[in-house]
Amino acid sequence: MRYVSLDRVVPGMELAYDVIDDNGRLLVGSKSKINYNYIERLYEFGFHGIYINDEFSEDIEINSPISQKLRRRGMDCLKKMDIDGCREVASSIVDEMLNNPDISIDMQDIRTFDNYTYAHSMNVAILCTAMGIGYGLLATELGYLATAALLHDFGKLMIPEEVLNKKGKLTPEEYKLVKSHPVMSYEAIKDREDLSAHIKVAVLYHHENVDGTGYPKGITGDKQTIYTKILHVADVYDALTASRSYKDAYSSYEALEYLMGNCGTMFDMDCVVLLEKYVPLFLKGTDIELSNGSQGIIIENSGMHNLRPVVKLYDGKKVDLLDPLNMNITITKSQGKALGISEANERGRRSMIG
Ligand SMILES: [Fe+2]
Repeated sequence: MRYVSLDRVVPGMELAYDVIDDNGRLLVGSKSKINYNYIERLYEFGFHGIYINDEFSEDIEINSPISQKLRRRGMDCLKKMDIDGCREVASSIVDEMLNNPDISIDMQDIRTFDNYTYAHSMNVAILCTAMGIGYGLLATELGYLATAALLHDFGKLMIPEEVLNKKGKLTPEEYKLVKSHPVMSYEAIKDREDLSAHIKVAVLYHHENVDGTGYPKGITGDKQTIYTKILHVADVYDALTASRSYKDAYSSYEALEYLMGNCGTMFDMDCVVLLEKYVPLFLKGTDIELSNGSQGIIIENSGMHNLRPVVKLYDGKKVDLLDPLNMNITITKSQGKALGISEANERGRRSMIG
């Protein structure tokens, strides 16, 4: 199984992973043979790539941290703004992930602009749960964290899409409206006595920076809970790696570089390190080019291999970048793109974070 960007997809390829639409409904099922019609529909829906099965990548297994069924159920509950449903989904995410001995968030997300908030909230819940497990939180605490992650952007569901997806600069009023979403999310849950205060506080403060420059209150890291700090890091990581109408997606490498570069100002360093434990710089099954000119795909990540993965070259040879003999080799391109944050992406990111 490997990831292929849509411009490299050709008819006859076999889909390896379900593609779902904005409503969490199945658009093209795994094992389908791709034809021109499917490719056109994938472009229309705004997808950027798909996972395929082929002979070269048949030994590569990429496991989603949660089942596709649960992902779809979560997106459905978010769409309906069903708080009870979200709580149940949060506890199922925790159960599924606690039962997965080898968590690696290795999968490139397959989503469109339009389902952004639903897919984003599900992804943030998965990232938060992985980080919470790494931090040593108990199952109940992980449930608070995953619930906060699912509910954190509820307020955005009340903001018109033309404002959320606006390409140009937001007017001061629109910007104020977007920035009010943590308070709106909090307002939607604050009277629920069955929700822990940990959840409400994390939702309200998920845009607070550790140096006190965030919003809505400008509280510093020493006054933030671990739930707030983890949620902030997971939220920004997932926002950066998504494509939006006003910016291209950052690669995992670029997003982690950005997070690390903002430790101590925006983010708590321990939380960024926790994220790096579970999110590889280069996702499994993606195309890369090495500094010696050879090309292949990533076939193994985990632990130190998150930084120095194992690569299968197109001639079939394997190169373990963690091997001292290969330490002088670096990855120079990922999915045909030179590494590094482009100026255009950085401008988009600035307009997003404000
Ligand atoms: Fe948010």
